[in-house]
Amino acid sequence: MTIGIIGAMNEEIEQIKTEMDVKQTHVKASVTFYEGTMYNKKIVLCKSGVGKVNAALTTQILIDTFKISAIIFTGVAGALDEALEVGDLVISSSAMQHDMDASPLGFKRGEIPMFDRSSDFEANKPLIALAENAAKSTLNRNILKGRIVSGDQFIANPESVQSLREEFNGVCVEMEGAAVAQVASLNDVPFVIIRSMSDKANGEASMTFAEFTVLASEQSFLVVREMLKQVQG
Ligand code: ADE
Repeated sequence: MTIGIIGAMNEEIEQIKTEMDVKQTHVKASVTFYEGTMYNKKIVLCKSGVGKVNAALTTQILIDTFKISAIIFTGVAGALDEALEVGDLVISSSAMQHDMDASPLGFKRGEIPMFDRSSDFEANKPLIALAENAAKSTLNRNILKGRIVSGDQFIANPESVQSLREEFNGVCVEMEGAAVAQVASLNDVPFVIIRSMSDKANGEASMTFAEFTVLASEQSFLVVREMLKQVQG
């Protein structure tokens, strides 16, 4: 069993890269894949880059080239749920694209037109349980499970926060998760997204993001590391 681990930015993959035993590196479509082990588990780590297209492309390559059997996304997000503070953790129950909008054609916002399955991609239950156990045993922070919403936008205003909460019931917002979720689902590969809050997606979000991305990335890393320790395989 090989687990694929994706982060969008350097901060989000750096610590895993330092602790894993890298056996080989591969570059495909300008993305570097680090193949190796951590706690005797086979992993392939990569940095997708920011946004849904980069995330989708990276996920499909991971699946096709490395025959991975599960995907964990690790990184930071903007909090939508009022219970979340910077550094707190979200584990995806599902993920959806908030910027998919064919509402003039009569589709609900977020719904992918002419798509024969749900646009709300469900994360794998055993991976969710593994993440919850890992988070509880490593972090002394608030841990929420819920829908992650993704779009090619950095959200930094209270009006968007309100609409993402009300229309999508999103607990946090980021820029890759739903793309990974969609590609993983279409390939029948189980996935889970782990995100720690770098900001609250409000007027201060750009400053908070700059200040807390490293701290938040570390929280997510601690959970993924513990997942790798605990996972059978
Ligand atoms: N990632 C971290 N914070 C974010 C925000 N406010 N909007 C989108 N993606 C994010």
